[in-house]
Amino acid sequence: MSMAGTADSPLDIVTKQFESIYKTSPTVFSRAPGRVEVLGNHTDYNEGVVLSAAIDREVWVAVSKSSSAECRLTSGIFPESVVISKIEPLKSRNRWANYPLGVYRTLLDRGYPVAPFNLAIHSTVPLGAGVSSSAALEVATALALCGLFGFEVDPAELAKICQSAENHFVGANCGLLDQFSSMFGRAGHLLFSDFRSLYHNAIPIAAGDVTLAITLSGVTHSLVAGEYNSRRRECFEAAKFFQAKNPEQKTLRDVSMAELKSAQAELDPQFFKRAMHVVGEDERVFSAIELLKSGSMKEFGALLYQSHESSIHNFENSCRELDILVDIAKSIAGVYGARLTGGGFGGATLTVLKTEAKDRFGETIVQEYKKRTGRNTTVHFARIADGASIV
Ligand code: GLA
Repeated sequence: MSMAGTADSPLDIVTKQFESIYKTSPTVFSRAPGRVEVLGNHTDYNEGVVLSAAIDREVWVAVSKSSSAECRLTSGIFPESVVISKIEPLKSRNRWANYPLGVYRTLLDRGYPVAPFNLAIHSTVPLGAGVSSSAALEVATALALCGLFGFEVDPAELAKICQSAENHFVGANCGLLDQFSSMFGRAGHLLFSDFRSLYHNAIPIAAGDVTLAITLSGVTHSLVAGEYNSRRRECFEAAKFFQAKNPEQKTLRDVSMAELKSAQAELDPQFFKRAMHVVGEDERVFSAIELLKSGSMKEFGALLYQSHESSIHNFENSCRELDILVDIAKSIAGVYGARLTGGGFGGATLTVLKTEAKDRFGETIVQEYKKRTGRNTTVHFARIADGASIV
């Protein structure tokens, strides 16, 4: 207990955990939140734009320098500790350790002055809920190592280092959205990110009276990674079609909706649909910013439903269960909008709702989903939170 009658803070928890394993005190702490994609689906790797939010579920990391040539890692969720002397990806047990190790390896490879360390992790980011617990762990580790070894890296560059660790060390393909959102999110705001220029900006949302609901479909598609990669490829193929005509057009970000529509007859129908989704999502993100500025939450919510429709018909990354979750959300008073969030092919939906509608939403969605699918759903309510920091 940190004070009589109060629960331990994340800082207390991670400190105790660190001290019980390493018998010494940590010297640097950092925290990084999970994230949710609000609008702009599969646009990040197409150099497009996204609205996202950091959420009030966080990974906390405590570190100290190691006196040996080995890194030692421990996690409150997987309580065994791991000792690492050779920095290579772990293949069997303790895979979670690959995220911090990947960040360490990437920093080393890029010449940053890092050395072996002791690290403890405490997390309140739900696992498998599509809110990027892995990106949060990477970002928290990266900040902690900067603090521990006393060097500075531009935060956008640090987010890219974390993405590279996930792509090349862990071996999971993802765009930059997850790490970027964890790094730059801001309480009471949606984060606008431009993945061409890496410009980002915080846009206020509904005077803070908004809650996000992340609703799990309970469907996990065994081929998610394969589907994600094949969609990526199809987007790149669509971009190549335009590039062949105009070398200036390198990605789908360079293609307007009008150009895309006028090329329909010549473009492979599958590539056309994928491009319709991505180009449409970029447009919806820009429209959403204007609507948020004028406080038009109902119209903003309508864009979320449109995004989901486009996922169903164009990108084909939805499934029956996600469609049902969106459909139920639509019928509940106080809901602004809902859509699948993240990669898709199962996973979760995001609902943006009035905070006062939380209980109604929670009860209705659980009951109705069970009735219509026979499945159970889990709802995580989240507030929009600040991005990562050294504590
Ligand atoms: C996953 C990836 C992100 C992004 C989304 C789709 O969450 O990790 O980089 O591509 O899918 O928008």
